[in-house]
Amino acid sequence: MLKTEAIAKHFGGLEVLSDVNLTVGQGEIVGLLGPNGSGKTTLLNILSGFLRSSAGRIRYDGRDITGLPPEEIARLGMRRTFQLPRMPDKMSCAELLLTAVPQPVGTRLFSRPGKARAEAREASRRAFEMLERLELTRVAHQPASGISGGQQKLLALGAAILGGARLLLLDEPTAGVNPTLRLRLVETLQEIRRQGVTLVVVEHDMGFIGRLCDRCVVLDRGVFIADCKPEQLMENERVVEAYLGKRERRPMPPVAHPHAAEA
Ligand SMILES: Nc1ncnc2c1ncn2[C@@H]1O[C@H](COP(=O)(O)OP(=O)(O)OP(=O)(O)O)[C@@H](O)[C@H]1O
Ligand SMILES: [Mg+2]
Repeated sequence: MLKTEAIAKHFGGLEVLSDVNLTVGQGEIVGLLGPNGSGKTTLLNILSGFLRSSAGRIRYDGRDITGLPPEEIARLGMRRTFQLPRMPDKMSCAELLLTAVPQPVGTRLFSRPGKARAEAREASRRAFEMLERLELTRVAHQPASGISGGQQKLLALGAAILGGARLLLLDEPTAGVNPTLRLRLVETLQEIRRQGVTLVVVEHDMGFIGRLCDRCVVLDRGVFIADCKPEQLMENERVVEAYLGKRERRPMPPVAHPHAAEA
């Protein structure tokens, strides 16, 4: 589904990514991990076309998408969410999700009024179902920019899903989201996967990663140091060293077993 070949990125003299070879199969949920500043967001920016790599190529769905602009990549079904989402002031949460549902070309101009109404009703049903699932019904009619940071992350995720994503790149989807909703989010994302969506998830919450992901890849200072199952992360010396090493780093919390009883 997605394959990068020797992606590198430098900002001036700073080498942020080097020789990154990432392969993601159709229907997989892959965790993209690494300490702060290891290059995770930069890699997502490159995959989704928001940044150009300094070297290397990206293949998606059998075609070379290296250097395509973000809107073109989004049209191909690769959608991403941001570590810090920015929401419009003048749209409510419900409106934002409604506009995310794709309208068939020419719906408004050419289709019969009855059919157009049925399609609008269906879009509305899907938008409100998504609000419900993300526990945002209560804020449905509030401005999207006025809800909490965690809620904005969920709203952005809902919009990406409704927008018809086939490959979703999520940058820290649980930051600011309460623990109960995090567990529901695991279920929601697994259901999305059952519907045929492939996921790459950047996360620091190891409990979330352990429950959600099939496989994890770990970046340390721009280089891949591991590719393993979540429960194998703690056995990997390079991973433990990256998180607990001499440099001042965020300690690595224990990884939840994928089938562990919910905490
Ligand atoms: N536009 C930029 N110009 C210069 N340096 C940058 C730029 N964007 C990122 N960097 C640097 O690249 C490195 C990787 O940053 P990146 O945001 O990709 O890390 P990250 O793994 O997402 O970290 P975090 O877990 O804190 O989100 C950091 O050293 C960062 O300062
Ligand atoms: Mg980041």
